[in-house]
Amino acid sequence: MTAPQPKRLADYTPYPFRVDQVALTFRLAPCATQVLARLDLTPQSPGADLRLDGEGLRLLALRLDGHALPPADYTLTETGLTIAARALPAAAFVLESEVEIDPAANTALEGLYMSGGMFCTQCEAEGFRHITFYPDRPDVMAPFRVRIESDLPVLLSNGNPVAQGTGWAEWHDPWPKPAYLFALVAGDLVALRDRFTTASGRSVDLAIWVRRGDEARCGFAMEALKRSMRWDEEAYGREYDLDVFNIVAVDDFNMGAMENKGLNIFNSKLVLASPETATDADYERIESVIAHEYFHNWTGNRITCRDWFQLCLKEGLTVYRDQQFTSDIRSAAVKRIEDVLALRARQFREDQGPLAHPVRPESYIEINNFYTATVYEKGAEVVGMLRRLVGDDGYRRALDLYFDRHDGQAATIEDWLTVFEHATGRDLTQFKRWYSEAGTPRLRVTEDWDGSRYTLTFTQETPPTPGQPVKTPRVIPIAVGLLGQNGDEVVPTRLLEMTEASQSFAFEGLAARPVPSILRGFSAPVVLERETTQAERAFLFAHDTDPFNRWEAGRSLARSALMAMVGGAAPDPDLIAAYGRVLADAPADPAFGALCLRLPSEDEIATALHAAGTPPDPAEIHGARARLTHAIATAHEGALQAVFAAMADPGPFSPDAAPAGRRALRMACLGLLNRLDNGARAERLCDAATTMTERLAALACLIEMNRAAGALARFRDGFAHDRLVMDKWFMVQVLHAAPDLAAETAAHLAALPDFDWKNPNRFRALMGGLAANHAGFHHASGAGYRFYADWLIRLDPINPQTTARMSTAFETWPRYDAHRQALMRAELGRISAQPGLSRDTGEMVARLLA
Ligand code: ARG
Ligand code: ZN
Repeated sequence: MTAPQPKRLADYTPYPFRVDQVALTFRLAPCATQVLARLDLTPQSPGADLRLDGEGLRLLALRLDGHALPPADYTLTETGLTIAARALPAAAFVLESEVEIDPAANTALEGLYMSGGMFCTQCEAEGFRHITFYPDRPDVMAPFRVRIESDLPVLLSNGNPVAQGTGWAEWHDPWPKPAYLFALVAGDLVALRDRFTTASGRSVDLAIWVRRGDEARCGFAMEALKRSMRWDEEAYGREYDLDVFNIVAVDDFNMGAMENKGLNIFNSKLVLASPETATDADYERIESVIAHEYFHNWTGNRITCRDWFQLCLKEGLTVYRDQQFTSDIRSAAVKRIEDVLALRARQFREDQGPLAHPVRPESYIEINNFYTATVYEKGAEVVGMLRRLVGDDGYRRALDLYFDRHDGQAATIEDWLTVFEHATGRDLTQFKRWYSEAGTPRLRVTEDWDGSRYTLTFTQETPPTPGQPVKTPRVIPIAVGLLGQNGDEVVPTRLLEMTEASQSFAFEGLAARPVPSILRGFSAPVVLERETTQAERAFLFAHDTDPFNRWEAGRSLARSALMAMVGGAAPDPDLIAAYGRVLADAPADPAFGALCLRLPSEDEIATALHAAGTPPDPAEIHGARARLTHAIATAHEGALQAVFAAMADPGPFSPDAAPAGRRALRMACLGLLNRLDNGARAERLCDAATTMTERLAALACLIEMNRAAGALARFRDGFAHDRLVMDKWFMVQVLHAAPDLAAETAAHLAALPDFDWKNPNRFRALMGGLAANHAGFHHASGAGYRFYADWLIRLDPINPQTTARMSTAFETWPRYDAHRQALMRAELGRISAQPGLSRDTGEMVARLLA
């Protein structure tokens, strides 16, 4: 096999045929499914060969306008089928193919595969080519008719049901769509049903399909779906457009969920929830992913992407929309903080390492490797910045124009920016750099006070990233407010628009030198660098009127205290005192209080140390964090006990934001008190808990105290048959294992019979738990690295996509000391030397080592 060649944005050419209609027939059988495809095609560019993608298909028959095509007229390769132009009519024609595929052998979970006895599909990005010969690219859109033949009782596909009989069903999707939105499900499933009436009166039958026995755990997802449908009408004026909306939960899934037209397919962990089995974080995530996939119906399906380089067009926008939804129905401040925490932990980390790439990449080998935090989360930040720059009204006008102008099309980032320009009259030439240049800008700020005028001077600089040594200045929206010495807001939030490499902004007529609150609400995805005193940060932590920046001030205080503690310093008494105030205020806003109590993660401290020029020592960081936790607990034991008691929930259970916030605060207190009572409280709670939130938090505490054996055994007895809960059982033990024990614990768990490693959720639970155990994964022995690499090597031939994705655990190697760098590079080298390594993992490892 020749080395895979990169695809480039610059090489885009339109497909030379139009697909007017697609009719598919599936004769389902686990090991030998037949797929009959009838494509109505119209040539668009005379003389072009007809090239169809197809991989792993056994071709049974090929007919053009009803006649078998002679082998001399086409060529078949490992990646597709080409029919010579000379064999094609000049006008519209019909191509029919029959192929055979083997869903039962499909462990890559791409195309048509089996999961727990049911047939299901995953076609984004390029899975449809594993089902039939087709132009598998998003700019080819067509209406689909699908006939499914199978003895299984439930047979689903996209669009509206047309007819069904014993052993068959037919579906029709009137909305032209690209092949990546195709879906088919067949199984012995049961549904939770409901109904939704759209703003204009269309009645929509809703159903969530699950395995028998799971139907009682779909109620929350159904409520989330209805809330999403209403919200999209109210916030964006977007209505649903079919008679049915189906969601199916499957246990084996490479990602979170998929927005197939009218038939969303979900990882079961993002659908099923009950108080005993799902944590509050699970509930919140289910709600946001249900919303995300539903919102794709307009931003993704009705308007799709011209090519995969434009992925952020649908993903960045849809993430932005699901974030808006969550902040509307829960707490906006808490949501923003959670999103920024995730952005920094995943996207900043990506942007600062060897895998850095622009929000709109310009080349790739395997597109599945670009479903990244940069495309999704930074893509959403870019939409948020656009909105801040043009204002709420401008944003609404631009979005209305976008839907008007591009409905039914496969669009580009240029189209997207043009609607903003036309709707608001703004020139977005410079703004576009957010899409084309990788890297996180560093924003330095200095201040000047001359007795009445206060001046802020900003300097921006973006470090080089792979393939992009030189960066140009970005447009950066910087939200700033000024506070008086007593904490009053003397200048309310104002948006500064920075466009130069260095730029000053003056505030006139102030009576006294103010305290600035900069980058309020995290108005741009940058690293803010500001020389400031601990006292000023403590002031902002106590007084900032912007909740995000209030939290941020506390976070940065804790971060610098921890950095100093890694160097041997004692806990900062001012910081300890500040936590006393947090605890006093927390009961008034428990979710916010819980966030303020949460210390920076070990990975975050490692990043900060690296940025300050010190290679992080994971063991030292782990120790420093434990010492600070202990010091806070000791200083505030009484208050912690009081808050812990006050936040107890008398029930009945509700997954709403308010009670979830109380549980979060209570569990934050538990985590601190745990150090003092040596796990006694956690032990009691673990058995008495009525929610998974409490049970799992208590279990983590016991693991940290190394007294979890009994609780783990009881947990396992209670939930042995629940796959999703057992994933948590696997994860929590590795994630919270002491650094010296992490690799050993992981190896012990991996040897258990219920470590079903071919199931991506189970694999991710164990291996993801190890990668997230910072001091364990980065243990100086290299045992964590070795174990992890062994398993990537084992999984790669089975499931390249998940393997490639999980290789990102190694992306931080340049941060560490020479010893750890060498260990990590050696493991990456060992992976890359595997014979037959997948294209997915091959590309990742090459980029990681470059
Ligand atoms: N479009 C899906 C979502 O974000 C993601 C599916 C990606 N799947 C994949 N195999 N690359 O909602
Ligand atoms: Zn999406």
